[in-house]
Amino acid sequence: MILKTDRLLLRPFSIEDSADFFSISSDPMVTEFLTWGPHIHMEESLESIQTRFINNTNVFCIEHRDDNKCIGCIDLRFDNTNKKVGFGYMLSQSYWGSGYMTETLKAVLDYIFSSFDINKVEASYYVGNPGSGRVMEKCGMVYEGTQKESLIIKNKFVDVVNYGLTKKDFLDFTQPLINKKPEQLLDEILR
Ligand SMILES: CC(C)(COP(=O)(O)OP(=O)(O)OC[C@H]1O[C@@H](n2cnc3c(N)ncnc32)[C@H](O)[C@@H]1OP(=O)(O)O)[C@@H](O)C(=O)NCCC(=O)NCCS
Repeated sequence: MILKTDRLLLRPFSIEDSADFFSISSDPMVTEFLTWGPHIHMEESLESIQTRFINNTNVFCIEHRDDNKCIGCIDLRFDNTNKKVGFGYMLSQSYWGSGYMTETLKAVLDYIFSSFDINKVEASYYVGNPGSGRVMEKCGMVYEGTQKESLIIKNKFVDVVNYGLTKKDFLDFTQPLINKKPEQLLDEILR
């Protein structure tokens, strides 16, 4: 599956992405709030691509359409029993703060809710990484609470901040008018 946005192509990984992916995954700032530490050798990045990313339709390489560089990735974690999907994402530090992950997540949420029988998307970030929560908020996700010292990550207890988005709330967020009955709309206008 390939998803196209204004500036990006979300597409499967290939071996040719190894050097770009290594430059991202070897950056300690990028991995600071991830469960794993920075890659030291290019082989680690190559192995991730070969064993976990290639042929995995749930992992998207984020390619910048200007120069076809891999600038990050987003992976989906399906829980079909509960009709839920989780995700994780990371972006090259050089591209932070320009709306790229918001653009990515919006396209991915649209893809999830329009292509699968999924009722809810859930994700979390660790306290100290509020930019990640802001991306989720900008895509319509809703704060659902913080679990104090819920995990041990890199030998430290971390507070986990949870966000979620039901299909109904997603449709209200993306198509606020289409999904409302005329009397609801009138009520909101008069209020
Ligand atoms: C988190 C991450 C994916 C964000 O990607 P991005 O493309 O920079 O995000 P966007 O530009 O779309 O949006 C970031 C938002 O967070 C805000 N933000 C950034 N740092 C912030 C901070 N310290 N406090 C509050 N808001 C912050 C930005 O201002 C922006 O919001 P705005 O548009 O309202 O101004 C990126 O920083 C990253 O890859 N980090 C390393 C890996 C990581 O932490 N992944 C997430 C694990 S849960």
